[in-house]
Amino acid sequence: MSAAAVTSIRPQPLPPEGPVGIVPGVHWIGAFDPGLRSFDTLMKTANGTSYNAYAVRGSEGMAVIDTVDAAHADSFFARLEAVARYDEITRIVLNHLEPDHSGALPELLRRAPQAEVHLSPRGLQILRALLGGDFDRYRIVPVTTGAEVTLGDRTLRFLTTPNVHWPDTQCTFLVEDGLLFTCDLFGSHYCDERLFDDQVGDFRFALDHYFDRLMRPFRSSVRTALDLIEPLDVAIIAPSHGPILRTDPRAYLRHYRRLAGPRFSFGTDRTLAILYISAHGATGRLARAIRDGAAEEPGVRVSLFDLEGGELHPFIDLIEEVDGIALGTPTINGDAVRAVWELLAQLVDIETRGKLGAAFGSYGWSGEAVRQVETRLQGLGMRLPEPGLRVKFEPSDADLDEARAFGRRLAAHLAGRAVPREIDLAELAAR
Ligand code: FEO
Repeated sequence: MSAAAVTSIRPQPLPPEGPVGIVPGVHWIGAFDPGLRSFDTLMKTANGTSYNAYAVRGSEGMAVIDTVDAAHADSFFARLEAVARYDEITRIVLNHLEPDHSGALPELLRRAPQAEVHLSPRGLQILRALLGGDFDRYRIVPVTTGAEVTLGDRTLRFLTTPNVHWPDTQCTFLVEDGLLFTCDLFGSHYCDERLFDDQVGDFRFALDHYFDRLMRPFRSSVRTALDLIEPLDVAIIAPSHGPILRTDPRAYLRHYRRLAGPRFSFGTDRTLAILYISAHGATGRLARAIRDGAAEEPGVRVSLFDLEGGELHPFIDLIEEVDGIALGTPTINGDAVRAVWELLAQLVDIETRGKLGAAFGSYGWSGEAVRQVETRLQGLGMRLPEPGLRVKFEPSDADLDEARAFGRRLAAHLAGRAVPREIDLAELAAR
C-alpha cells in the first residue's frame, strides 16, 4: 500500500451523481466534500461538508442560487446541466460571496452572461474584486429586503441579513413554495448524500457546532435575521451547507432563537465580572477591592473569578452573558500572563462589541500589561470608560481605596449613573 493511500482521508465519491429534486422544478445542484477536515481555519469538520447550490425553474426563466467551491465546480456544472441549458438562466442569486459559495461563479457567468446577478449592496465590492475587469460586462443588480424578481410563475424575494457571518449575507425566499435559501444560516458541516434532514444521520451536533464557530460571534445579527424570517410562511429551509431542513422548519427557527439569545437575565440588573490572575497576591487584593467598590452600586451584580481556579471555556460563556468585565493581570517579563492572553484570544468567538471593559493589575518594574489588555479589549469593540488601574508593588491603603473607587465607577457606568470625571492631563501623560 502506498504512503498516499495510507494517509488519504478522502473516501470514494458519493452518490448521487446527479441533481436532487426538492420540490417540482427546484433542484439541489451542489457538491459533496466528504474529505474536508478543516473549514476556513475556523473549525474542524469531522465528516466533511457539502456546498449547496440550487436551481429554480419558472415559467419565464431559471435562477441559480449560489455556486460552490472552485475545487468542486465540475460537480456543480454537471448537475446544473442536467436540469437547465445555460441560455435559460435569467438570474443568478449570490446570497454570500465567500469562496466556498462563489468559487464557480466566474465560470458560470462566462457560460450564462445574459443572467442578471442579484446580491446585497455590501456584496458589490467583493464581487468586483472577484470578477476584476469582467465586472462591468455583466448585469449586476443589488437588492435589499422586500425586493422581488420574477421567474414567471415563481417569485424570489430578498431579505438583507448582514453579518451572519459576513457583511454581504442575504437570504432569498421562493414565495410560492415557502422555500427559504439561507446560505450559511442554519448550515451544518455535515456531509451526507441523503441530503434531507429526515434521511441523513444525526447531524444535531454539527448544526450546533457550526453555530458555535461561525454564528456565535454575531448573535445579535442572527436575532435580527430571525426577525425578518419568522413572519414568513417557511416550508423548507435550504442552507448552503449540510442537510436541507424540511421537517418542522419552525423547530429550527426556535432552536436558532435559543442559540442566539441570552440564557436568562437578572431583570434590570446589570452584570460585571471581575476576572484576575495574581502572581504574588497583589493583583488579587486589587480585584477584591474593585469587587467591594462595585458591589456598592445598586442594580449591578458583581462577581469575582480567579482565572487559576477555572477552565477557560466556562469563562468565555460567562463573558458572553455579562454586561462588563474587569480583567486583572500582573506584568511579568513586560507582558500580561499567558492565561490572560489565552482568555483574550478566545473572546473572538463571542460577541463582545459594546460591552464595558476595564483592566487592572499590580506590577513590579515596567507595568505594560494593563495597557496591553486595554488595547486588546478595544480591538474587540469594547468600550473602556475608565483608564486602567495600575499599582506598583503591593497596594497601599490608598491604592485599595482607589481600587474601590475604580469599582464604583465601573459599576456606575454599567448602571448608567456614571459621574463624568475631570481628566487629569498630567496623570494621563504619566501613564
Ligand atoms: Fe459557507 Fe461563509 O461560507
